[in-house]
Amino acid sequence: MKLRNAISDITPYIPGTTRGNAVKLSSNENPFGASPRVAEALAGLSTSLHVYPDPGAGKLRDLLASRHDISPAQCIVGNGSDEIMQIIAGTFLNPGETTLSSAHTFSQYKSVTQIFDGVYHEVPMVDGRFNAPALAEAARSLSPRIVWLCNPNNPTGTIMTHAEVRTVIQACPAETLVVLDEAYADYADDPDFPDSRALIDEYPNLVVLRTFSKLFGLAALRIGYGFGNEDLIRQLYTIKQPFNVNAAAQTAACTALGDLDHARSSIEHNRIGRDRMYTIFETLGLSYYRSQGNFVAVKVPAAAADIAARMMDKGVAVRPLGSFGLPQWIRITVGTDHHIDLVEHALTAALKLETHTVHR
Ligand SMILES: Cc1ncc(COP(=O)(O)O)c(C=O)c1O
Repeated sequence: MKLRNAISDITPYIPGTTRGNAVKLSSNENPFGASPRVAEALAGLSTSLHVYPDPGAGKLRDLLASRHDISPAQCIVGNGSDEIMQIIAGTFLNPGETTLSSAHTFSQYKSVTQIFDGVYHEVPMVDGRFNAPALAEAARSLSPRIVWLCNPNNPTGTIMTHAEVRTVIQACPAETLVVLDEAYADYADDPDFPDSRALIDEYPNLVVLRTFSKLFGLAALRIGYGFGNEDLIRQLYTIKQPFNVNAAAQTAACTALGDLDHARSSIEHNRIGRDRMYTIFETLGLSYYRSQGNFVAVKVPAAAADIAARMMDKGVAVRPLGSFGLPQWIRITVGTDHHIDLVEHALTAALKLETHTVHR
């Protein structure tokens, strides 16, 4: 069959992989898993599996409304935040219109643009960071339909500050939607990290995306959400599939929000783990980006794919960043203490092999 023209150039998403018993540090999942209360709550669902889920995820939206001090009508829940990106592009992007983001960021922004026959434009990064002045300039000259900001950025872990996000939004025409993807925001502790809750009051053309896949450890169930101006969110419901979020995901998310101690403990471990990884990289003489997420990107003195393959042989799955346009970088999820021991061992061994290869 001939593919629809618009999608013939799409590169299928390359997920983080693993092999055998290797520790999986390639997809930024929470190594501590979900709150133990989630499994108990899911067991209670077994007698109602024949009933369709709540199409509006009402209970969850109520909880999210109190979490973010918004009204439930300002929130939409999706089958992962990936689905909300697709709903956003499907709602607002006409064929041939432009969307804008940065180089070296999450690939779904480009992919959903292409699915809806849009034109994806990216500006270069500076030192692993989104370049706010360049994005503002591009927003002014291109009048894109959508601007995608990934904050903290996957894969570099760097952030745009509150002021930088405002610079970009202010440069956008009123008809440009700004999507602030905060999948990793729970891990950010930089005081200049944006207060997105305040920004949605200021800008009716802003939508913020969050996910339960990372901090809350529910990646397998696929659940994320968006919040913003009420009229904007209402428009997104136009094309939402009625039963897009299954009952297990809704129950799990509600339960996870009730165990914030578990979440806080994951954040604390992550903060300590990130620092430990920096020390390891410094000892090995490697450059890296200080990260505000649950992963660190590190530059290796060889093809990232080779280093990642050698680390896999040593039992650690990491993400080579060639598909992000960074062929000499790998991204490593912050694991447990034990996982970080394994990273140290596997990376040291992979680099030794590299030195050996070079000198032969
Ligand atoms: C920046 C970013 N946004 C969104 C997602 C997707 O999240 P979800 O699992 O909710 O679809 C990811 C997943 O890795 C991500 O890195």
